[in-house]
Amino acid sequence: MSATELLQDRYGAVMMLTYGMPPVALASGTGCTVLDVDGNSYLDLIGGIAVSSLGHAHPAIIEAVSRQVATLAHTSNLFLHQRQVELAERLIGLLGTDGRVFLANSGTEANEAALKLVRKAAGPGRPVIVAAEHSFHGRTMGALSLTGKSSIREPFQPFGVEVRFVPYGDAAALAAAVGMDCAAVFLEPALGEGGVVPAPAGYLKAARTACDEAGALLVLDEIQSGIGRTGEWFAHQREGIVPDVLTLAKGLGGGLPIGACIGLGRYGSVLEKGDHGSTFGGNPVACAAALAVLDTIERDGLLAHVSTVGAQLAAGIEGISHPLVAGVRGSGLWLAIALTGVAATAVAATAQRHGFLVNAVQPNAVRIAPPLILSAAEADDFIAALPAILDAASVVLAGQETS
Ligand SMILES: Cc1ncc(COP(=O)(O)O)c(C=O)c1O
Repeated sequence: MSATELLQDRYGAVMMLTYGMPPVALASGTGCTVLDVDGNSYLDLIGGIAVSSLGHAHPAIIEAVSRQVATLAHTSNLFLHQRQVELAERLIGLLGTDGRVFLANSGTEANEAALKLVRKAAGPGRPVIVAAEHSFHGRTMGALSLTGKSSIREPFQPFGVEVRFVPYGDAAALAAAVGMDCAAVFLEPALGEGGVVPAPAGYLKAARTACDEAGALLVLDEIQSGIGRTGEWFAHQREGIVPDVLTLAKGLGGGLPIGACIGLGRYGSVLEKGDHGSTFGGNPVACAAALAVLDTIERDGLLAHVSTVGAQLAAGIEGISHPLVAGVRGSGLWLAIALTGVAATAVAATAQRHGFLVNAVQPNAVRIAPPLILSAAEADDFIAALPAILDAASVVLAGQETS
């Protein structure tokens, strides 16, 4: 039995199998490379689902986290500390407007804070939240109620939130759905878990207008798209709009758990003393990691790097003529290889056998969301390997058809 199989056996005996059985047991990582417990090496093109923005064992994160944990690891929110203030100042500065930050530990918690914020801002006369079909906002009950994937939402109904779902990207449907009964619209700038599906140009602007006309808040969930993933600090900045509330997590902590709910302008002051809280939220170690991420993105010019290497990767994939590939979606280092059929699981499995970790985000789409430090040479390695990966996946799929 391999070390992976032994660990999988133990995992299967004691872990709730909410993730099924993961195919790889990771042991360590450096840069964009990870090693499994059997010593196999992989180029990590999924980065812990768009989280490990500086890759693995980045010196800036090691230094910041080590220093912080050796100084003060935890305070609770009975006391404040320097790192949380610095982080909030940095985030507000990057947005270029005034606002206030609530720090949480994850994406779903950031959205829970946003839900409470909009509920309080709108009052009882506006019970409805508008959200998109195929969206993903998290797994806790509030965020799950907004999540547009019925297979993961419906088993847990009913929720205490009245949600009106609209087809993603259809500005007219959105405008029709946002009425005087709406507290807020929750949107991702591109569907992440939905398969890296960017909004059509002008969609976020149309959402802003619909919210303004109805007096509803616009909440942008940039938990996956934010912190440089698309080559901008925040994906919505390309659209030239300003949300009322912004939620962040994932890449912000570079691997340490942190989330943020940012109320912009007057929406920064809606939640008041006693309205919300978290024992760990804004933990000094997680904040130190997030500051190291922001500093490194800035210092190393990673936004421009993401745009350049992302474009190279997208062009390289697009240039591969293969019957399984329908095209490429996304921007920066946040791409989906759109497939011509239900082949994503086979492609991800064969990629793994060829030494590349990617994610079957949808049955017909493979997601690539590597560390923002992915080099041009590493991108080229994947492009060079992809035809053989796709051929091997085709063989697997043909075998499944005949068996
Ligand atoms: C857009 C979006 N919102 C919210 C979440 C939930 O984040 P977490 O898993 O940290 O709770 C995710 C996670 O994939 C996400 O992609």
